[in-house]
Amino acid sequence: MADSSSLSRDRDDATSFSWASTRTAVEQDPSLLSWGSGSQPSVPSVDDDAQTETRSISGSVRSSTMSIDSSLYHFVEENGRTYHRYKEGRYFLPNDAAEQERLDLQHQLFTVAIGNKLNITPFSHDPLRVLDIATGTGIWAIEFAVQHPGSQVLGTDLSPIQPQFLPENCRFEIDDAEDEWAFSEPFDFIHGRALMSCFNDPAAVVRQAFANLAPGGVMEFQDALFPMSYVGDTPVDSALYRWNEMMVEGVTRLGRSWSNVKNYRRYFEEAGFEDIVEKRFYWPTSPWAKGLYFKLVAAYFQEDMLAGIEGMSLKVLGGLGMSTDEVKGFVEEVKRDFRDTSVHAYLTV
Ligand SMILES: C[S@@+](CC[C@H](N)C(=O)[O-])C[C@H]1O[C@@H](n2cnc3c(N)ncnc32)[C@H](O)[C@@H]1O
Repeated sequence: MADSSSLSRDRDDATSFSWASTRTAVEQDPSLLSWGSGSQPSVPSVDDDAQTETRSISGSVRSSTMSIDSSLYHFVEENGRTYHRYKEGRYFLPNDAAEQERLDLQHQLFTVAIGNKLNITPFSHDPLRVLDIATGTGIWAIEFAVQHPGSQVLGTDLSPIQPQFLPENCRFEIDDAEDEWAFSEPFDFIHGRALMSCFNDPAAVVRQAFANLAPGGVMEFQDALFPMSYVGDTPVDSALYRWNEMMVEGVTRLGRSWSNVKNYRRYFEEAGFEDIVEKRFYWPTSPWAKGLYFKLVAAYFQEDMLAGIEGMSLKVLGGLGMSTDEVKGFVEEVKRDFRDTSVHAYLTV
């Protein structure tokens, strides 16, 4: 969709871009931000017979059958945020309402970035059994289930933060993807997105996924590569640059890697996958880059980071010795760089 050479600076339009102009652009060309397949939804009209309608669709939506020890809902509280209780401490980002909202926004970012799609892998028919590991709020799994009525979709996560009312063909389980996989049947499609902070041994997760795929099955991972890159000179004195360096270092100390996406192809090869396809996308930090596609992606990415950067940084920079107040102060500086269109930074995904 884009290569880094097309990520050039926009001299005319960088500061004038806003969510309002994004909305206008999308209104004029819905294909920029399609809500599903094809055209836009029509304006809803009042249902005079809502009761009957509700009864007739009740068979297609059900309450989750997920049976969870209620103590797992008693999340761990720290720094005014909450964290998962099951396998406490395994994952360093929060799981509270603010983080859930961010994950749902980030879902839009990923889908817009790859062309208003949930996945890049083409399917000629609905894959029968689908697994979404580390599903977060489950938004990808639910949308995939809706778009693929012939699929049975399972999402797993450490946190029970998924909605209760689900499409018939979607369900969730609490599970650590680094434990031995004990699924009763193999899957036809395994999906994982934004997993870079999740695993001590991502290669082992890829091996388990391979072993749990049916013959001809497919796996798709989407993930980001840190530290960020820059068009032109690298602003080594900026808070954004320092934040990138410190996060990569801090995450490594926590036993994870924010640069692991470079190794994904090798992990896939070593696990036994064939026909491996790698695609790159670029997310500018602000509307500094030319073209509406990049402005849209940047609008989502900037919002995602402004909402998420504190939650990402608290434990990681805390691990490097910064106090909570120092982290919060530093994060405000980094946010300023995210809004500054003279900082030409982008993330490779
Ligand atoms: C950044 S979120 C991504 C969520 C989702 N994949 C998406 O793209 O919207 C990472 C998720 O991974 C979950 N997670 C972290 N470590 C995990 C593990 N070892 N096993 C299962 N889930 C894990 C977290 O609880 C969190 O919900």
